[in-house]
Amino acid sequence: MPNIHKINRSLPPTILTIFGATGDLSADYLLPALLHMHTEGLLPKDFHLVCVGRREFTTKSYLDFIIKKSAALKKLPAAPKASFLKILSYYKGNFNDAKSFEPLAEILADREKPRHKCYNRLYYFATSPKLFSTITGILKASGLLMSCQSHQRQVRVLVEKPFGFNRVSARGLNKLLLKHFSEDEIYRIDHYQGKETVQNLMVVRFANAIFEPLWNNKYIDHIQISVLEQDTAKLRAEFYDQTGALRDFVQNHILQILSLITMDEPKDLTANYIRDEKLKILLRLDLKNGWIVRGQYRGYAKDAGHSSQTETYIALKAFINTPRWQGVPVYLRTGKALSKKLAEVSIHFKELDRCIFRNCAPNILTFRIQPDESVHLQVNNKIPGFGISLHQGDYEFGYNKAFMSEIPSAYERLLLDFMEGDQRLFIRSDEIEAAWKFVDGISQAQKKQPLLNYKPGSNGPGEADSMMAKDGKNWWTK
Ligand code: BG6
Repeated sequence: MPNIHKINRSLPPTILTIFGATGDLSADYLLPALLHMHTEGLLPKDFHLVCVGRREFTTKSYLDFIIKKSAALKKLPAAPKASFLKILSYYKGNFNDAKSFEPLAEILADREKPRHKCYNRLYYFATSPKLFSTITGILKASGLLMSCQSHQRQVRVLVEKPFGFNRVSARGLNKLLLKHFSEDEIYRIDHYQGKETVQNLMVVRFANAIFEPLWNNKYIDHIQISVLEQDTAKLRAEFYDQTGALRDFVQNHILQILSLITMDEPKDLTANYIRDEKLKILLRLDLKNGWIVRGQYRGYAKDAGHSSQTETYIALKAFINTPRWQGVPVYLRTGKALSKKLAEVSIHFKELDRCIFRNCAPNILTFRIQPDESVHLQVNNKIPGFGISLHQGDYEFGYNKAFMSEIPSAYERLLLDFMEGDQRLFIRSDEIEAAWKFVDGISQAQKKQPLLNYKPGSNGPGEADSMMAKDGKNWWTK
């Protein structure tokens, strides 16, 4: 049984500064990932983490605060905590006062002095997007972007989603960032790309001879992507109410998965070739002849604190106008407060033109992104006994059975790529804008759709099932 592949590359000296270090993202994802990387010895040998927030903390009281806030860190034993404190500093800065950041440049420089090395300066924007422009200004004004004497230092920024609110604002943000950084210094994150099962989509498609020849409208009937969540929006109501399911999930995670599963083979694995192919898909998405169903779970108004027209569920049918995919519908759905947490992509093959048996069921290839990471292929087999009757068997490849250790978290993978300077799993400016263009179209179209009510813990509005049924299909989950 193979063990999970560990990195054996040495990472350059790095100072990672996180803006928004007291927020939920830092508590739930970033600090747990960094602490785990620290205990596993995955961080660069020369590494320092600076956590920036508005509140008053010492480094120790900050770490205590974040451990208390984070479900993932609550039971952290004392030893890793003590050693983590050696590579951590908390810095209080006021985003309304650029001057409050002036000492930060000196603090970062002081970290480098004892080692006589130029550390790469990496900045993580984990704040509300409203602050991205302010933070960029602060970085510039406080000398935090300056190269060191030997000119070997690299500066990179990682920007959290949502990247803009529509195409116009995303374009504005790109313009702003590109004024201070080059495209290869900007890392726009979509944490789904860091998930092993999402990376596996490309491998299964392009490393096996049996799939690619069938990957087109001659053999594929339709594609489904479902990303369902059980949690409500209650804990992040203020953010979610301005975002909704379309902007929170479709614009990024779902469209990224869709482009990976439908793009042409890139020339090689360099970041720009992969992103060129994804972009071609994003530019050809089309809602014409499709439909939209939008819903809101009952009780959302209470969670949001007011009545609201924000959708907590969306399902849609769209097309990809390329020769390969002409006429193949893609069905996408996502929502909160549903019956289960599940993310899956399924490729539904066409029925055989001619079946010499009774009941040849169409093949379905399912990628279970989470939970129970796995790949499934539905294949017709003979039921043992006299006569010939068919049974659709499940050829399953489960990660739990196949690999010995725990799968690395998406954020660990992406943070390591950020430190190493690998942009393959990050999104380019033109991809972001193309995705927004399609989403802006949905936003416009959905204004005409009613906001349907659904019961928390259900599968969403019944209308989404009826629309599938009209196409002679069902929502599929493995
Ligand atoms: C985030 C969304 O990007 O992904 C959240 O903003 C969502 O609304 C989260 O809950 C889900 O991530 P995961 O990795 O738990 O599926």
